[in-house]
Amino acid sequence: MPLTPEILVPRLGEALISENLLRPDQLELALDRQKLERAAGNSIPIGQLLVDMGFISRDDLDQAITRQILKLQSALQEANKNLELRVQQRTEELEVAYKKLSELDELKSNFIANVSHELRTPLTHIQGYIDLFLSGKDYPITDEVKQGLLVMQHSADRLNRLINDLIMFSAAEVGSLKISKSNLKIKHLAEKCIQIYQASAKTKDISLEVVAPEDEIEISADEDRIIWVINQLLDNAIKYTENGGHVILAIEKDADDAVISVEDNGVGFDPGQINEIYEPFHQLDGSSKRKVGGTGIGLALVSRILDAHGSSISASSQPGKGSRFEFHLPIVTKKD
Ligand SMILES: Nc1ncnc2c1ncn2[C@@H]1O[C@H](COP(=O)(O)OP(=O)(O)OP(=O)(O)O)[C@@H](O)[C@H]1O
Ligand SMILES: [Mg+2]
Repeated sequence: MPLTPEILVPRLGEALISENLLRPDQLELALDRQKLERAAGNSIPIGQLLVDMGFISRDDLDQAITRQILKLQSALQEANKNLELRVQQRTEELEVAYKKLSELDELKSNFIANVSHELRTPLTHIQGYIDLFLSGKDYPITDEVKQGLLVMQHSADRLNRLINDLIMFSAAEVGSLKISKSNLKIKHLAEKCIQIYQASAKTKDISLEVVAPEDEIEISADEDRIIWVINQLLDNAIKYTENGGHVILAIEKDADDAVISVEDNGVGFDPGQINEIYEPFHQLDGSSKRKVGGTGIGLALVSRILDAHGSSISASSQPGKGSRFEFHLPIVTKKD
């Protein structure tokens, strides 16, 4: 179709009729003619046909078209103004909602932090007395009482760890997780972690081993936090692996990084759920029939701790085949 001003005006014929510049029967005739021309392979704009057929002068047509374009232009400007107003309103609503959410989030973090701190004091007293009674110094105890006290000590320790995790989590949530880096011998650290979990692996007949290069590798990281991270990964690997399985903690070198990975041949999970496993207080099997314990805070904190180190955790898994979690930390380069 040739480029003419009339192609800018939709329903030109009707506009001309409403302005009394054209009669409906004339438009009908011109449209019939347009159809015939189109069938013969000619594409002629309706305005051109109206002029050719003598129904309207070129001048009147041009003026009518200009008026229509101006009308359309002002309608467009009006629509734009309305749109801008709506965008502005929506942005303000979103800002209010976001502020409210942030406040609630902060409230939640403060609540967790306050409750955890409040729980800590009475627990310290309970632990203190359990230790005192267990020592048998001032109060001789029977073997039966001792067994009971040991169970209490074990439970109090678990509670203590959970409270500490919650405090660490709420600190991470408000961005105040402190990282104090030093040079660490990662192979030595890995061996230490394995020793901690050897007993629980044994109860499930799971083989647990470190695979590492011969030479020690020095990395720069926060010792307590990295031990915590490795322990969480080992805890999960043992927890989510059936009896008789294996778990490998591997240390490898990759350019300037040490790659630390924990691999198991356990139950695994659907790779589609990979983002869910890092959500705090979320467990893939959240049902009451779940066989293993936990609060679902482990990996959420692992990811925040590594984040604070400028690193990140990545995972791969296949249901029924096992899982692998890995992260990188920079190797300390020796200056000669
Ligand atoms: N090695 C693994 N194999 C299979 N599933 C895993 C593994 N590690 C984590 N998951 C899945 O990811 C979820 C989240 O792990 P996370 O460590 O955060 O929580 P948890 O172990 O259930 O509880 P917590 O760590 O607080 O004791 C787990 O509930 C489990 O469904
Ligand atoms: Mg865990």
